[in-house]
Amino acid sequence: MDKTMQIVNHRVFAHLNGLAIGSVAQGLLETGVLDRLFKDHQKKIYLDGLVANHCITLGYTRLAMETLCLAGLLDIQDEGGVSFSMQVTPRGKAWLNHRRLYRQYNELLTTSLESNAQAYMCRISDDDKSTPDDNTLTLVHMHLYAPSICLIMLRLVEQGGQLDMVKDWNSLIWQDILRREGWVSISNSGKVSIPNKVGLLFAPLYAYPISYFPLLRQIPDLLTGEKTNTPTIDRELDINFSGKVFRGPCRDLFLNQLLPLFNTEDVAGQPNVIVDTGCGDATVLIEAYQAIRKETIRGQHLHDYPLLLVGVEYEIAAINVAKQKLQQEGLRHLVIFGDISKPADIHETLNKYNIHVWDILHISKSVVHNRVFTHPNPENAYSNNIPNLNMSYVDVDGQSVSSHSLFNNLVSFFRLWSPWISHHGMIVIESHCWSPMVSQIANDSYPMNLVKTTHNFSTQYLVPAEFYEGAIALSGLVTIKTNSIFAAPGLPPTMTIKHLKNR
Ligand SMILES: C[S@@+](CC[C@H](N)C(=O)[O-])C[C@H]1O[C@@H](n2cnc3c(N)ncnc32)[C@H](O)[C@@H]1O
Repeated sequence: MDKTMQIVNHRVFAHLNGLAIGSVAQGLLETGVLDRLFKDHQKKIYLDGLVANHCITLGYTRLAMETLCLAGLLDIQDEGGVSFSMQVTPRGKAWLNHRRLYRQYNELLTTSLESNAQAYMCRISDDDKSTPDDNTLTLVHMHLYAPSICLIMLRLVEQGGQLDMVKDWNSLIWQDILRREGWVSISNSGKVSIPNKVGLLFAPLYAYPISYFPLLRQIPDLLTGEKTNTPTIDRELDINFSGKVFRGPCRDLFLNQLLPLFNTEDVAGQPNVIVDTGCGDATVLIEAYQAIRKETIRGQHLHDYPLLLVGVEYEIAAINVAKQKLQQEGLRHLVIFGDISKPADIHETLNKYNIHVWDILHISKSVVHNRVFTHPNPENAYSNNIPNLNMSYVDVDGQSVSSHSLFNNLVSFFRLWSPWISHHGMIVIESHCWSPMVSQIANDSYPMNLVKTTHNFSTQYLVPAEFYEGAIALSGLVTIKTNSIFAAPGLPPTMTIKHLKNR
């Protein structure tokens, strides 16, 4: 990666991580926790005490503290149980000086650039300029204008990089911010242009957080327990983004595992149905079909051996988009409701359509972490010897989930699938997080803090690749082929693609 690319990359990731920090900071400020951390910055602070004194929920506060920890603002000492102690770092102490700037951060998480500009202006005029620590202040400001940068950059990409087409960003304050950020230059006559197009390459990444704005806005209420039901996200935008991720780094590796299954002389022995659970907008099904048609022996026999594409979905928005896309492509298809956590139910529905298990190749992308978590029965624990993840998760009721329960739940998940994948197997693409230590080292060179925070607060269970692989091994499934995708050189994978089968 060249130097300009690295700088742009770093700024984009600092914005993205800043969105997570901003929402969490608002909640912790309103409940008095940030003042307490500031006052006691030299002391060890216990999570239990904070929860009791500030009337906040244990499960979600744990998640919030982890967000600050990943940003290097807190050190967490995990003492084995659900609770832990923490201490403010020197970086955290400098950051806490500016804590009041996160007041009503949620007002910035709108899709109206005009209201963002007003809210941001209010904040800058309140800013206490007396602090000597300019680097931290610059970073705080990046967190504050991050939502607007997301909106402007995404609109810019949608308009093919044509600035004049992006109508509602044209306020002087955004011009100035974009200039300071290095995204645009402004001539003496006031003409605004984009000096280097490198940034535009990264701009589509901003779609991801926008789909999570509704969730980020709910974080303060989750912390106080005012909101208890599962938070919402903009599924349509999220699905659209997932499709783009597939076309980017995943496609070729996935096809390398898929296509050989359709490239055998024994065409009659190949799968007749591809079932994609959590199919989103059906991008993966469509790409798979087109590649099979163009690049395999099966492609020459589709007339005699047709392929049926089945999308299984949990969300109405996705069911509708998937149906529409598959119809537009003119492909034989079926889209049904189903939950990845209940493979037997999915097969019961498939049976009604005369689709049998020996005909199916299962696939799934970025959905294992969406499974519905249920606390495992301690008597059925698969292993007591599980490495402590030092990570926080919550169940749908906001109660803390231990690494031990999460691991056993993941093993159960794969065991539930095993009777259904003994013939052609299942190609599973899954996203992963890093351990807190790796995430801290990477800091703003990757948006892991945003990814972790948004997934954690919406009960999506991202785990490091080695934890996931441990659960697969214990479930008894065999990995026929495996590939990994590394978002940052030298760090653990952020995605794996595995062809799994029951022995
Ligand atoms: C991150 S998106 C991935 C979409 C698609 N697989 C892709 O990668 O382009 C997750 C998808 O899983 C669906 N989903 C969420 N929970 C699910 C569940 N329990 N069972 C099946 N699908 C689920 C969501 O509606 C969404 O479409």
